Amino acid sequence: MPETRLLPPDDAGLDAAAEILRAGGRVALPTETVYGLGADARSDAAVAGIFAAKDRPAFNPLIVHVADLAAAARHVELSDTARHLAAAFWPGPLTLVLPLKAQAGIAPLVTAGLPTLAIRVPAHPLAQDLLRRFAGPIAAPSANPSGRVSATEARHVMAGLSGRIEAVLDGGACAVGLESTIIGFGPDGTARLLRPGGIAKEAAEAVLGAPLLPPAPEAGITSPGQLLSHYAPSGRVRLGATEPRAGETMVGFGAVRGDLNLSERGDLAEAAARLFTVFHRLDEMGAKAIAVAPVPEEGLGLAINDRLRRAAAPRD
Ligand code: TXA
Ligand code: MG
Repeated sequence: MPETRLLPPDDAGLDAAAEILRAGGRVALPTETVYGLGADARSDAAVAGIFAAKDRPAFNPLIVHVADLAAAARHVELSDTARHLAAAFWPGPLTLVLPLKAQAGIAPLVTAGLPTLAIRVPAHPLAQDLLRRFAGPIAAPSANPSGRVSATEARHVMAGLSGRIEAVLDGGACAVGLESTIIGFGPDGTARLLRPGGIAKEAAEAVLGAPLLPPAPEAGITSPGQLLSHYAPSGRVRLGATEPRAGETMVGFGAVRGDLNLSERGDLAEAAARLFTVFHRLDEMGAKAIAVAPVPEEGLGLAINDRLRRAAAPRD
């Protein structure tokens, strides 16, 4: 494997990125949520390269990124409810899990054998430009080694995957900073929240005109990537802390101030955008014990608390 190239966010960089994808290689690309590790979703060999670079268990399916709704319609069956959600939130941080079309042209490795496909239209201008130049679907999980914190800056991708992938397209910091909200549908068409993320649950419910249900317990495989210890910095994490104990590095929110702060003005969007950068910063500082201030369980706070609980879960 040659050295990982850092591609600039210009015409030459985008052309080089599209060329690498056409050749079956891997390019980490910025999206508005987090960086994705992209490869041609039509090629099993290219997609296998993603799993290899991430050390990802092969049963964990990937999200496919497309330029627009028309491109999505080539790969999945869009119900009226799905179209309604897509019209409201695409391009943007919403992933829909939908039945795969018979002639979808998606490599079987992408869905890990499931009859459904997770698909989204990213809003980031560089992701959009790359999708149009490449003119095909890009499979992209978050651009981090499996089980580690997602990357929200090109240097985070480099720190985790340098020497394991062909290139990183540098788009600066990701605006949302948390992965997309994933919504799936039951056999009766009811929408279910498979992963809280960059679209607030309340916003999706307002469009649906109905509450989003939790994943069906009998469904078995829902969002299998939701391993508990995911999204964890290396240090031990204690939640709901109002002040640090001896030896702890404090992460503040709002009135509860820390060594690092998610948002001093208590703004949930700002906290979401900073969360993974703070996790990476804690690792850089060598923090062994981490205390995190309470974050309200509303709006983007659902997704923030979901990632915090995973970070605080017992590990092997
Ligand atoms: O914001 C995001 O969603 C980022 C950017 C790069 O788009 N991507 C991302 O991908 O977070 P990843 O692979 O780290 O997480 C995808 C999640 C996993 O939990 C996976 O199990 C779930 O989506 N997933 C994929 N296909 C699925 C399917 N057919 N049914 C249920 N869950 C699925
Ligand atoms: Mg991930």
